[in-house]
Amino acid sequence: MESPRTPFPTTGYFGPEYFCDREAELDQMIRNVKGGNSTTLIALRRLGKTALIKHLFHHLRSNHLTIYLDILATESINELLNQFSAAILSQLSEQSTPGKKAWTFIRSLRPVISYDGLQGIPVVTVRSSPEESRKSIHELFSILESHSRPVVIAIDEFQQILEYPEGQTDAWLRSVVQDLKNVCFIFSGSQQHLMNELFMNPSRPFFRSTQFIKIGKIPSSPYNEFIESKFREKSRSIAPGTVQEMLDWADHYTYYVQLLCNRTFISSGKRIDPDHWKLEASRILKEQEFVFFGYRDMLTKPQWNLLKAVARDGVVKQPTSADFISRHRLGNPATVLRSLKSLQKMELIYRESDEAGIPFYGIYDVLFRRWMDRTQGAG
Ligand SMILES: Nc1ncnc2c1ncn2[C@@H]1O[C@H](COP(=O)(O)OP(=O)(O)O)[C@@H](O)[C@H]1O
Ligand SMILES: [Mg+2]
Repeated sequence: MESPRTPFPTTGYFGPEYFCDREAELDQMIRNVKGGNSTTLIALRRLGKTALIKHLFHHLRSNHLTIYLDILATESINELLNQFSAAILSQLSEQSTPGKKAWTFIRSLRPVISYDGLQGIPVVTVRSSPEESRKSIHELFSILESHSRPVVIAIDEFQQILEYPEGQTDAWLRSVVQDLKNVCFIFSGSQQHLMNELFMNPSRPFFRSTQFIKIGKIPSSPYNEFIESKFREKSRSIAPGTVQEMLDWADHYTYYVQLLCNRTFISSGKRIDPDHWKLEASRILKEQEFVFFGYRDMLTKPQWNLLKAVARDGVVKQPTSADFISRHRLGNPATVLRSLKSLQKMELIYRESDEAGIPFYGIYDVLFRRWMDRTQGAG
């Protein structure tokens, strides 16, 4: 595995050395796989689902065949077939016996195969009707079912199947996968309400057919230790308490923590003082400003005002309360509700529940929140 340019990569997976914690979740997922059970993995985006799947696969690699596909870009069952075929071609060598079967079958579909020059991965295009696509996916599952090693297929951004025009893809998929003994699945997704709909609604085919794992933020103490040790390994000394300040600024949100550490690592010398990360944090916000003004241009005035209000409060339990509305001058509850819905749809605001099960609203973009902290007015 190649090394990342800093000990704090902001994309991709570079092995356990650069991966912090998630030990309980990893254990649970390994146990699920060993028991032949499928897993549903949910978390807000950028908390670390994809990285955790890659981490799991790293641990399974010697005894299992692992196949990863991200279906966010797919818009039909035909495109799912294409993505799945590409994942198989990139994972299974044509020389191996099961690989040969899979390759021969995919070739028989007369695909156009090209290579994504940037990532070196195959892009497969088969044009077939929904019915034929389903049959082909089924056939590929059957080929994997007879593989000598157990097979784990991760379908990332799984909620996307709800968008397919054919409809009821989950019903079809459930009926096919429930007969597989040698293949188990990881269904991963960010949009919690859609994932809940798929797996927790009694009238849906996947209802309680999988083990649920929900990941949150990495706890402070292991993340602190991890970051300090990574700086130390590269002979950087860091003033006491500084890592905690950085974690707090990034709201312990994995992607933003990685970003801040990455940038601070690059721009500082042997010794890292609080001034260093603060300077880097300002730079990041400055660079992102055009994104924030982009939000403003894209949103209606009430949506923009609500976004700012949620950013300022951080956690909002009662968005339609008189207090919240009057403090932020948001008009009336109906307007707030309408804007809230739109902002959730645009994935700018999320809805979560706290430990007591009480729902609250928050904003994904930690940088936007930090930017709001310093620009009180901002139109
Ligand atoms: N446990 C971890 N330790 C270190 N970095 C992580 C960890 N989990 C995720 N990351 C990093 O955080 C970023 C976001 O993670 P990602 O897996 O892409 O999130 P998601 O799939 O939930 O949107 C990536 O850059 C990834 O490398
Ligand atoms: Mg992901």
